[in-house]
Amino acid sequence: MIKDTDILRIKQRFSIIGNAPALNNAIARALQVAPIDLSVLIIGESGAGKEFFPQIIHTNSSRKHNKYIAVNCGAIPEGTIDSELFGHEKGAFTGAISSRKGYFEEANGGTIFLDEVAELPLTTQARLLRVLESGEYIKVGSSEVQKTNIRIVAATNKDMVQAVKDGKFREDLFYRLSTVQINIPPLRERGNDILLLTRKFSNDFADNHRMPPVEFDQSAKDAILSYRWPGNVRQLKNIVEQIALFEAGNTINRDKMMDYLPAIADDMKPIIAGSNSQFDYNQERELVFKMIFQMQKKLEQIEAMVNDTGTPTHINADVAALKRESKQLVPIATPSASTLRQPSFELNHDDNSHPVHDVHIVDIDAHTSIKTLEDTERETIIHALERNRGKRKKTAEELNISERTLYRKIKEYGLD
Ligand SMILES: Nc1ncnc2c1ncn2[C@@H]1O[C@H](COP(=O)(O)OP(=O)(O)OP(=O)(O)O)[C@@H](O)[C@H]1O
Ligand SMILES: [Mg+2]
Repeated sequence: MIKDTDILRIKQRFSIIGNAPALNNAIARALQVAPIDLSVLIIGESGAGKEFFPQIIHTNSSRKHNKYIAVNCGAIPEGTIDSELFGHEKGAFTGAISSRKGYFEEANGGTIFLDEVAELPLTTQARLLRVLESGEYIKVGSSEVQKTNIRIVAATNKDMVQAVKDGKFREDLFYRLSTVQINIPPLRERGNDILLLTRKFSNDFADNHRMPPVEFDQSAKDAILSYRWPGNVRQLKNIVEQIALFEAGNTINRDKMMDYLPAIADDMKPIIAGSNSQFDYNQERELVFKMIFQMQKKLEQIEAMVNDTGTPTHINADVAALKRESKQLVPIATPSASTLRQPSFELNHDDNSHPVHDVHIVDIDAHTSIKTLEDTERETIIHALERNRGKRKKTAEELNISERTLYRKIKEYGLD
């Protein structure tokens, strides 16, 4: 039985915001299955927060001290995916000048997260099924059978049953991968969580860029709550950050809110409970391009204003950095007509850079420990208390911790 305090611990560790029962239920399921070596399939719409879950599973399993490798199956070209996953022998194909380990060898004893698993080519699916059934695989260009001990967690935003019906995904592999399924609820079904996330993203943005925070009035909140959020938390974050930038210090009402949701006004339609329409990625891609374009334009305007009014240099530096970032946002994995993938974006720090990596070997402990540093926590609490004018109930709500915990922390850090 998973306790509420276990769920809270996970939310704090991974900075997951929200209290919706369906979200809590997903975290509880991940914790329940973590110690048992079964394959897990994470299902949820694009941007819903699936990527936390394989990490929750890995860090709560007996494999936690071994490697965790995340592979974006949708971003690796079909011709190289077998060699990436299973490795190859020298001379296996033109250009294979030396032999190479695949991720299944690299992560032996650990966990592999296969993101966008529906995009795997059928030939790779056959190899994957074999690994799942017997732990055996063969490197590309080799005849020698190798053994590996890997746990697989996969994720998809596609309708897998349909993919099986269409002959794009092997039925036997689907069943093998989805021994346990975890459904991540779409944002529109998470009620008040939408407002918690809105506040968190806007306040974080204001803090990080030293800008005055925005307020959302009741009419704006109603609009936020009735919007469909087809791109889920990712979309909410993008839009709220734009608002936090361009409306810094202002109170946002419904009309203002609508200015930031123009391309998708159709999504203001009332939400039909339980509806589960497939999100159109073309629409999201179009929206993201529009947002980048708008952002660049507005940043240029701000820069011109800042230069005119002689604003302090640190703000100039922030604006310059933001401008650089918005310009460097480049789309990756351009979808073809037949295999439409969700757009992914990554910061391109170098114009001549190599293709964006699709694999991350993550040291989850090192990654998350930064957030537990005492001074970071103290600072976060001070900012939140200031924003909420010392009101502890509101502060605790914003920080997603209980009032009792906040009270203890205030004492601990001598903030009262
Ligand atoms: N409950 C949450 N609290 C805080 N941040 C969240 C939450 N859910 C999602 N996010 C943030 O939203 C963004 C999108 O989440 P994520 O990348 O996990 O989506 P996804 O479900 O994998 O989508 P896709 O199918 O498009 O890959 C990330 O920046 C993630 O940190
Ligand atoms: Mg993802």
